[in-house]
Amino acid sequence: MLINNDTILKDDDPFIRHESVPVELSLSAEDEALLRDMFQYVVDSTDEEKAEKYNLRPAVGISAIQVGVPKQLTAVVVDETDKHGNPVRYEYMLANPRIVSSSVQKAYLSGGEGCLSVTEEYKGYIVRSARIKVKAFDLITNKNIEIRARGYLAIVLQHELDHFKGILFYDHINKEDPFAHPEDAIEI
Ligand code: CO
Repeated sequence: MLINNDTILKDDDPFIRHESVPVELSLSAEDEALLRDMFQYVVDSTDEEKAEKYNLRPAVGISAIQVGVPKQLTAVVVDETDKHGNPVRYEYMLANPRIVSSSVQKAYLSGGEGCLSVTEEYKGYIVRSARIKVKAFDLITNKNIEIRARGYLAIVLQHELDHFKGILFYDHINKEDPFAHPEDAIEI
């Protein structure tokens, strides 16, 4: 599937609010091809030359509903540093991911969030769980995995899984007080 900034659904298309359904496992050839294309989009999107040439907007994740397919598929590539300060890249091609536990402690990105389906800038904090545990089938490792995510990765996964429910990041922004956050929330 051709995925670029023109083919990605934007939030003026009501279908972006459609609920996504689980896929059958093992993955069909069609679902597998889609998930690989989504992953490739995310990888290529942060390559300046490719992004320019192929009209890609930089992203750390994409969910299938954003290309018009209401299935629980998401691809994520997140670069972070580990506790020793070394760079670490988290890469996932997930089918049917679900959050099985969430910390009470909250976290938010200091710069707010963005989304391939949102062209406008929305100012405000999106308060999410600081740590989550996700179970999913992962096509990269070709097995069922459990992800213990914290920090930026936890935020990205929650953003992507929201897409399955038709939720966009700005839905979470407090309308009266966009920068409200619990006192003990972690700023990332
Ligand atoms: Co998004």
